[in-house]
Amino acid sequence: MNMIPRPPTLASADTIDIPAYTASGNERFLFEKAWERRLPLLLKGPTGSGKTRFVAHMAEKLGLPLFTVACHDDLSAADLTGRHLLKGGETVWVDGPLTRAVREGGLCYLDEIVEARKDVAVVLHPLTDDRRILPLERTGELLSAPPAFMIAVSYNPGYQNLLKNLKPSTRQRFVSISFDFLPREQETAVVARESGLDEAAVVPLVDLARRLRTLKGQDIEEGVSTRLIVYAASLIAAGLPRQEAVMAAIIEPLTDEPEVRAGLVEIARAVLG
Ligand SMILES: Nc1ncnc2c1ncn2[C@@H]1O[C@H](COP(=O)(O)OP(=O)(O)OP(=O)(O)O)[C@@H](O)[C@H]1O
Ligand SMILES: [Mg+2]
Repeated sequence: MNMIPRPPTLASADTIDIPAYTASGNERFLFEKAWERRLPLLLKGPTGSGKTRFVAHMAEKLGLPLFTVACHDDLSAADLTGRHLLKGGETVWVDGPLTRAVREGGLCYLDEIVEARKDVAVVLHPLTDDRRILPLERTGELLSAPPAFMIAVSYNPGYQNLLKNLKPSTRQRFVSISFDFLPREQETAVVARESGLDEAAVVPLVDLARRLRTLKGQDIEEGVSTRLIVYAASLIAAGLPRQEAVMAAIIEPLTDEPEVRAGLVEIARAVLG
């Protein structure tokens, strides 16, 4: 019989609990205090450094319904607030995720906020200063955010360009935390926990990632994320030979340039032996 093994991190229904998050500093306390004091939060840091995981962790910890929006260059204010839709011949108003978070007193998380269209700032500004209001022009409502409502946004400063940047008037509405990859020992423990691979087998992968991160900005645009190390370790835990796992989960995602790839392969050989 062909049994498909369950992924090691998949919790069964009765064991679902707070998503594991390893803190690098005092960010959990800061988040909690920001929430208590009704301050909006901005998380910045490279891809795969734990921003989304941190928000999911804190939402569970504080018992807040989480509304996550992945921003893109077409995302408009109406995508956040809501719009009138035709349903069975009738026009009905449907709340967007931001409006739902305000009505329900939840946590609204806007991922990659710099990607969103400029009109998004118009709805964010009155919600992220001491007014904490959301005017819904289309329905004529003026919603006042309840104490539990919180807004968190994130972006990756590495991808910034002059056209896509947060205006100071937006930036200065948020308490901000910088994210970076965890120190060696902690990152090893995270990857082992997430992938199910032994710590001893994870160490060389973390060392390789740390070595490749030093090339950021020279040959590669971004350093190896913790996410990619977790992918490689998961493939190894599932039985793929290490070399193939490293190729597929660490080296290939970093570059399309054959010469750069060959260089990375050399480094992997030297580090992994
Ligand atoms: N501090 C951490 N604690 C626990 N897991 C972590 C941590 N940092 C990274 N991870 C692992 O790395 C994966 C990627 O992290 P996450 O998705 O939160 O990154 P991100 O910063 O939101 O990236 P992006 O900017 O691409 O959205 C997580 O699914 C988790 O397995
Ligand atoms: Mg994320």
